[in-house]
Amino acid sequence: MDARNDTGTSRYHEVYARAQRDPKGFWADAAREIDWFEPAKKVFDPDAGIYGRWFTGASCNTCWNAVDRHVATRGDQAALIYDSPVANSKRVVTYHRLLTEVQILGAILKNFGVGKGDRVIIYMPAVPEAVFAMLACARIGAVHSVVFGGFAARELATRIDDAKPKVILTASCGLEGARVVPYKPLLDEAIRLSTAKPQTCLILQRPQCEAELTPGRDHDWKTAWNYAMEYAWTSDCVPVLATDPLYILYTSGTTGIPKGVVRDNGGHMVALKWSMKNLYNIDPGEVWWSGSDVGWVVGHSYIVYAPLFHGCTSILYEGKPVGTPDAGAFWRVCAEHGVVSLFTAPTAFRAIRKEDPQAKLLSGYDLSKFRALFLAGERADPDTVQWAEQVLKVPVIDHWWQTETGWCIAGNPLGLGMLPVKHGSATVPMPGYDVRVVDEACKELAAGKIGSIVVKLPLPPACFPTLWQQDERFKESYLAEFPGYYKTADAGFKDEDGYVHVMGRTDDIINTAGHRLSTGAMEEVLAAHPAVAECAVIGIVDPLKGEVPCGFIVLKAGVNMPPSQVEQEIVALVREKIGPVASFKLALTVARLPKTRSGKILRGTMKKIADGETWQMPATIDDPAILDEIGTALKGRGVGG
Ligand code: COA
Ligand code: AMP
Repeated sequence: MDARNDTGTSRYHEVYARAQRDPKGFWADAAREIDWFEPAKKVFDPDAGIYGRWFTGASCNTCWNAVDRHVATRGDQAALIYDSPVANSKRVVTYHRLLTEVQILGAILKNFGVGKGDRVIIYMPAVPEAVFAMLACARIGAVHSVVFGGFAARELATRIDDAKPKVILTASCGLEGARVVPYKPLLDEAIRLSTAKPQTCLILQRPQCEAELTPGRDHDWKTAWNYAMEYAWTSDCVPVLATDPLYILYTSGTTGIPKGVVRDNGGHMVALKWSMKNLYNIDPGEVWWSGSDVGWVVGHSYIVYAPLFHGCTSILYEGKPVGTPDAGAFWRVCAEHGVVSLFTAPTAFRAIRKEDPQAKLLSGYDLSKFRALFLAGERADPDTVQWAEQVLKVPVIDHWWQTETGWCIAGNPLGLGMLPVKHGSATVPMPGYDVRVVDEACKELAAGKIGSIVVKLPLPPACFPTLWQQDERFKESYLAEFPGYYKTADAGFKDEDGYVHVMGRTDDIINTAGHRLSTGAMEEVLAAHPAVAECAVIGIVDPLKGEVPCGFIVLKAGVNMPPSQVEQEIVALVREKIGPVASFKLALTVARLPKTRSGKILRGTMKKIADGETWQMPATIDDPAILDEIGTALKGRGVGG
């Protein structure tokens, strides 16, 4: 029987129960799918690290498992298909070719003095060289940190100062639809702002906008590559400990200082490899597409690492779901490359639906190989899921994720046998995740009751063991509030079937077009404007992007600038300091902000007013009239019910 459509006899419950009963045995079995130089001394060591570590004593190499080991059996198979409607370019990179690329780039990095444990920042668009760069770092034991191209110079500078990279790899520009985004000015400004100056930058020149190189610091990618090729430079896979860091990925925290999520080598390989068959139901050799960006965790795990560990062909798409050139772009890519499953954010499907509600552009494309759509990054609204199910006629699977975990926390394991889909739920916890819903006192709540979603420690392999050089912040942010549990900072409930329903964040993180952003970081930018006395940023419902930020400002007494000018300036300031990806376009001047008597801004109530939801007057409010003022200000901009 085909497990793909089998709702009656899923092996999920049996497999999950085994992982709970015997986690070491379960993950030791999964680890057999990975090549190790030295096997683990302990599958799990509860005394290592902060909450224990997986595969202690083992040595391995992530690049070997992603590339080298496949060359003998599938050297001529495409490892990567780069498809860029914005650069009007396509490129197939076989496993054999990928090996050559990473050997050379690894050698170039070594020549720049990069060795085991050194950090390398990768600030690049979705081009094959970004993937080569990640794998080349893994090959030589260096720790990469990819920074998303939509972040501004200041965000890059913060990451440079925290990671202290020896080398930065970048490209001359990114392509945002028809807009060319030069990266070099952003790079220069970031290095100017940072205190930890990198010695070397390697720059990939793109024909759409070539960069002028800074003498002594910048090197041309192509020239370095040609030189290395001519002199037959190469690099070998360096054995690293399973517990050594593979990468740091910065993600929004509740302040302007992002959190450096650390991913290790061993546990990461084991869990991701397991997920390809058991969760996504993909076989080696099949074509898989994660429509994300290499700058996000989904891009790390499912454009680069997992599909390559599994010997798949992975699509690297540089474009948008709409406008490059139209809302049929995703269907074109799926048909042209024989994609069996696509993983993207619900916002991408909302964008397609808005442009082409009848999915007319689908006709003419052969999607006969297409088996399933996976959605994550934000809650998949039932409307969008239903629409996708109707037009694609395949299972549409919502699954819940965090940068911190590196892979799915709750999903529908197609490879174990699909469970019935419930719209609005991410389905069930994956093996190794003991998901509970608790109240403030960490008491478990009954089915159907909304509370904080926590995961009992230890977290399974691939989840972060700590924050980069910030063990205390890790403990404080994630482990302190609910002792013995990892705080996901998501709220939701489990229903009577054990299905997990994730409803939203409990902190000031918002999700805009599947991108994770901190409203606290935006407030820091607003507060720095000389005319602003006080401010609050909340996420408000947006039909396309899920949520967008909305800023409220109170001007200082005596400011003689028109409020509209201050509003325009703060919109520009957020774009400049955080980046266009923040989508900060709405700023409102108000006379006062609603607060509790102890001075806390009532952001939750403001959000309800903006979203047109019913709300109750908080008992602790200082002056109830202010909420009417907020409602009036929002209505003035066409927001709120
Ligand atoms: N480099 C430079 N600028 C970037 C960028 C990058 N890598 N990525 C986004 N931006 C810019 C955009 O051009 C846009 O600029 P604008 O304000 O001048 O229009 C701004 O940042 C906001 O970007 P975004 O929120 O992505 O909006 P969009 O209108 O460009 O696209 C979607 C909307 C829904 C089509 C798009 O967000 C999408 O495809 N999302 C998929 C989600 C995804 O990949 N999530 C990752 C986790 S799975
Ligand atoms: P990121 O770290 O960028 O992956 O964002 C993680 C956050 O996105 C989570 O904490 C959730 O708030 C949200 N999220 C991701 N996937 C889902 C999902 N399937 N359902 C609901 N929320 C989700």
